[in-house]
Amino acid sequence: MEKNRIISISVISMTALIITIVTVKMNGFNQGFVIKPHNLGQTLAMKQVSYVDQEGRRATPTYSDESYFPHSGNSTKNQFHDDRLSGNSKKCLVNILIYKNGWSLIGRKPTTYRCKNLACSFKLSYSDRPNSLKMKDIVLLYLRSKWNWSELLQVRPAGQIWIFYSRESPLHDQGIMPPSHLLHETYNWTMTYRHDATIGASYGTYIPGEPDVHENDTRNWAAGKTKMAAWMASNCHISGWQRVQFMNKFSRKYLPVDMYGNCGTLKCPKDERCKAILSKYKFYFALENSLCKEYITEKFWRNALEYGLVPIVYGAAKEDYERIAPPHSLIHLADFRSPEELVKYLETLDKNDTLYNEYFDWKKHGRIEVNSLGRTFLPKTFCKMVQKFLEIKNKNEKDVQSEMPPLKSWWRDSCNQNSHCRVVRKVLKV
Ligand SMILES: *[C@@H]1O[C@H](CO)[C@@H](O)[C@H](O)[C@H]1NC(C)=O
Ligand SMILES: *[C@@H]1O[C@H](CO)[C@@H](O)[C@H](O)[C@H]1NC(C)=O
Ligand SMILES: *[C@@H]1O[C@H](CO)[C@@H](O)[C@H](O)[C@H]1NC(C)=O
Ligand SMILES: *[C@@H]1O[C@H](CO)[C@@H](O)[C@H](O)[C@H]1NC(C)=O
Ligand SMILES: *[C@@H]1O[C@H](CO)[C@@H](O)[C@H](O)[C@H]1NC(C)=O
Repeated sequence: MEKNRIISISVISMTALIITIVTVKMNGFNQGFVIKPHNLGQTLAMKQVSYVDQEGRRATPTYSDESYFPHSGNSTKNQFHDDRLSGNSKKCLVNILIYKNGWSLIGRKPTTYRCKNLACSFKLSYSDRPNSLKMKDIVLLYLRSKWNWSELLQVRPAGQIWIFYSRESPLHDQGIMPPSHLLHETYNWTMTYRHDATIGASYGTYIPGEPDVHENDTRNWAAGKTKMAAWMASNCHISGWQRVQFMNKFSRKYLPVDMYGNCGTLKCPKDERCKAILSKYKFYFALENSLCKEYITEKFWRNALEYGLVPIVYGAAKEDYERIAPPHSLIHLADFRSPEELVKYLETLDKNDTLYNEYFDWKKHGRIEVNSLGRTFLPKTFCKMVQKFLEIKNKNEKDVQSEMPPLKSWWRDSCNQNSHCRVVRKVLKV
């Protein structure tokens, strides 16, 4: 059995806060951004509404285990400087629309921000009315939406950039793919968790070269951990594989696992208290709901690495994790020939703190950044769009190369739901 080379993080909340602030500073937001005063302090309740899915059924989105657009209200004040937008920067304004229905951002007032080092500001607005596409430069077609493609294409002005956006896997993207006959007339850029997306929106990032702890740190990361393994899931039904059955059977037959959330019997509050509960465990089962290329979510980045548990992962291929995650930070189910072998390995780590601590060694070499949805939708993300947009505008039309990958092979076919690793096959057969 190959031992995994990986890592894990345990950022205490203070550190997380500092990282956030430092990151914000490094990116220059608090100098570069300007927000109109009328949007400050506005508390925008994110109302969960039902929407109609592709088949016309009414459905309630149930994916979320994070709050949407948390940078609304007072926290906005911390992230953006509240200078008044100067009259001059209004001269160059890139209009960005988030086109969505369902989860309500609609009704939020358009807000103008300035990007550091860019001549143009951008104005961000939200709508679900096709007419709102007029006069916009960039449109982010939000997932969990349903729209009439031909109607949208009719009102789309020439030169308007459409962004293919998804945080969900292709299995749960809620119909953001246009029908095949319109496939080549739609999107220009992508914005997803994939590393090769035009605008990156990954759930987390490993940043080598910025150590999280001192190189001679001798901390025992196993200290204070009184429990073995936990799993948490909010959604027990929407899954591309038999994740719940796997956990139930594994826990019953091989190694007891404490199960949190809707699919288990234990509760973990959706705030810092959950971190205190989970950090008592040595291992966290970070099982994704879909087995798709690079689909590695907050289960891995936050619930395991940030909370200081060693993740036992299943979802994306091992090579994807190795490319994206900190070195020697995780245990992949595909590394084991049987559930017995996995349990034996976990027990070895449990008994030997030296071995367990190796999974935290990466902290001496780098740190992670967890990208909640709110962090994805910070102005820096939109500034990337503005920058790219300006680059395109400065080129001759014929020199602009399409950056859109073929959606069918790049997106739709990027999952592998049917060939499970041996551990999963054996457990499911029990
Ligand atoms: C927002 O900030 C104001 C002024 O600092 C404060 O009075 C108010 O309670 C805050 N509201 C929330 C929801 O935190
Ligand atoms: C979509 O929009 C087109 C053009 O406005 C309209 O003809 C068509 O009936 C619409 N389709 C649906 C399903 O609403
Ligand atoms: C955006 O994509 C559409 C559809 O493929 C294409 O017609 C248009 O030229 C593209 N626009 C830019 C600016 O690349
Ligand atoms: C870490 O320990 C090594 C070996 O004891 C020592 O040479 C080095 O100076 C220490 N590093 C720091 C930054 O203290
Ligand atoms: C723990 O593992 C290390 C590294 O493999 C080994 O050197 C050490 O002897 C082990 N300790 C125990 C108590 O087994």
